Amino acid sequence: MQLQSLSFLATIAVLVLVHDVAARDLRNVTEPKIPPVCTTLKMSGKDDTKTIQKALDSCANGKAVALSSGIFYSGPLTIPSGASLLVKEGATLKASTDPKLYDLGGNKCGTIDELGLGCKPFITMHGAKGSGIYGKGTIDGRGDTRMVGSNITWWHLARNALGVHKLQNNPRLIQINNSMDITIYQITLTKSPFYHLVAHETNGFTVWGITIISPSYALNSDGIDPVGTQNVTIAHCNITTGDDDIAIKALTAPTKHVSVLNNHFHGGVGMSIGSETNHGVSDVLISGLTINTTYNGLYIKTNTLRGGLVTNITYENICVHNAGSPIQLDEDYYHYHGNNTPAIRNITIRNFKALGNGTFTFHGLNASDPIQVTLENVHITEGSKFSIRNAKISGTWNKDARGRCAFAGNPVV
Ligand SMILES: *[C@@H]1O[C@H](CO)[C@@H](O)[C@H](O)[C@H]1NC(C)=O
Ligand SMILES: *[C@@H]1O[C@H](CO)[C@@H](O)[C@H](O)[C@H]1NC(C)=O
Ligand SMILES: *[C@@H]1O[C@H](CO)[C@@H](O)[C@H](O)[C@H]1NC(C)=O
Ligand SMILES: *[C@@H]1O[C@H](CO)[C@@H](O)[C@H](O)[C@H]1NC(C)=O
Ligand SMILES: *[C@@H]1O[C@H](CO)[C@@H](O)[C@H](O)[C@H]1NC(C)=O
Ligand SMILES: *[C@@H]1O[C@H](CO)[C@@H](O)[C@H](O)[C@H]1NC(C)=O
Ligand SMILES: *[C@@H]1O[C@H](CO)[C@@H](O)[C@H](O)[C@H]1NC(C)=O
Ligand SMILES: *[C@@H]1O[C@H](CO)[C@@H](O)[C@H](O)[C@H]1NC(C)=O
Ligand SMILES: *[C@@H]1O[C@H](CO)[C@@H](O)[C@H](O)[C@H]1NC(C)=O
Ligand SMILES: *[C@@H]1O[C@H](CO)[C@@H](O)[C@H](O)[C@H]1NC(C)=O
Repeated sequence: MQLQSLSFLATIAVLVLVHDVAARDLRNVTEPKIPPVCTTLKMSGKDDTKTIQKALDSCANGKAVALSSGIFYSGPLTIPSGASLLVKEGATLKASTDPKLYDLGGNKCGTIDELGLGCKPFITMHGAKGSGIYGKGTIDGRGDTRMVGSNITWWHLARNALGVHKLQNNPRLIQINNSMDITIYQITLTKSPFYHLVAHETNGFTVWGITIISPSYALNSDGIDPVGTQNVTIAHCNITTGDDDIAIKALTAPTKHVSVLNNHFHGGVGMSIGSETNHGVSDVLISGLTINTTYNGLYIKTNTLRGGLVTNITYENICVHNAGSPIQLDEDYYHYHGNNTPAIRNITIRNFKALGNGTFTFHGLNASDPIQVTLENVHITEGSKFSIRNAKISGTWNKDARGRCAFAGNPVV
């Protein structure tokens, strides 16, 4: 190769680096380390709420309360600023199924109403800095277990609410609000009565190597939802659930600088942005994702009820196997109408493979502001279906996808 073309390549390399630098978590995130332990607790077999909460409240900054092994039963817990919870391998923290313990005051928790805001979460962090949840143990929300004082489960309540077009008052499993530098590492989250893990208006949110498992019939059991949150890394996670595997939302503040790296989904609604895009979602890198048997693969959902700009989103090295809609970019989600303007621009999908003959949907609302998407090295299956309106698609797809998705390591084989 001549010197000239070498320097040309070097220039491209530099440009590529500069070019992609903003569309990701701005922090340099590496694999988290488990903090030193302040106290180790043993299960009592009874209600351990007070013991765990007391240990968390007196744990020194930067240290973790360890649950050693066996089953711990608890009602709602708050992780204070600076403290962490370590659920060790072999330990399970089980959430109480008594709606009264979660009630926010109106006796709504465990009932159906118009709002669905009557319960506090199982685990809360609020205004915390440097807190986290660590360990190879399990946190079980027990959505499948009858509520105390009722003959139905949280999940059954959700199903009943859907039947009457209302909302269930069920607790979320982990809710992080207005916090900084929060880490969730290795833990298995299962059977949440509602969303599993939500970070709301938080700056610095690292989720690494966690597993989420809930069945397809667990309604609203979203896996990981960053909402109005910035500097997010979600890496090496394995998610199976009944709703969005990951949903990036911007309900009350913008969400930006998000990296979603080397994850695997099996079951669920897919890799979602929205539908709460109100304050805008931008600068997102989704790289290395394998998806097996979900409703959607890459999914952006918004409408004129929400509005908001979704832009600077890069998807790369993605393999989707057997999704109803391997790619769905939709500005008319559920046909809900309001007075806001949604826009989906500057979406890049590169090194993408879809196996199975699903439907590729691009539904923009406005011919003068079409959905803008660029395709590079996109391979789909012969027999796939298309539904396209008000979309400007640059690049093309090849109907030659074959082989399989590798579900570990390099997703595209
Ligand atoms: C995101 O991370 C970068 C790099 O650490 C930092 O400069 C910036 O302030 C962070 N943004 C927010 C909103 O915390
Ligand atoms: C991240 O690493 C790069 C390369 O080493 C460095 O230039 C940059 O300043 C680092 N950013 C932060 C926020 O530490
Ligand atoms: C629960 O109890 C109510 C009334 O007490 C009854 O109508 C309903 O069928 C029961 N549901 C189940 C799942 O047993
Ligand atoms: C935490 O954020 C959620 C939205 O994700 C909100 O519904 C809830 O009220 C907030 N909790 C508190 C205590 O502010
Ligand atoms: C994901 O978790 C499931 C259990 O839910 C397990 O069977 C599967 O091997 C895991 N996959 C990867 C890639 O870790
Ligand atoms: C994909 O999911 C199907 C069932 O949904 C399962 O039979 C198959 O083994 C999965 N493939 C891989 C590679 O995990
Ligand atoms: C489009 O988004 C990419 C990152 O995904 C960014 O590097 C690029 O500058 C953006 N282009 C425009 C025109 O905003
Ligand atoms: C999109 O990326 C471009 C180039 O980095 C940047 O100028 C622009 O502000 C970004 N848009 C948003 C909404 O962040
Ligand atoms: C359609 O897009 C154009 C160009 O961005 C904008 O001026 C117009 O207001 C949009 N129309 C609607 C109904 O949002
Ligand atoms: C789609 O795939 C299914 C299962 O692989 C097959 O039965 C069906 O004939 C295919 N449909 C089309 C239109 O290719």
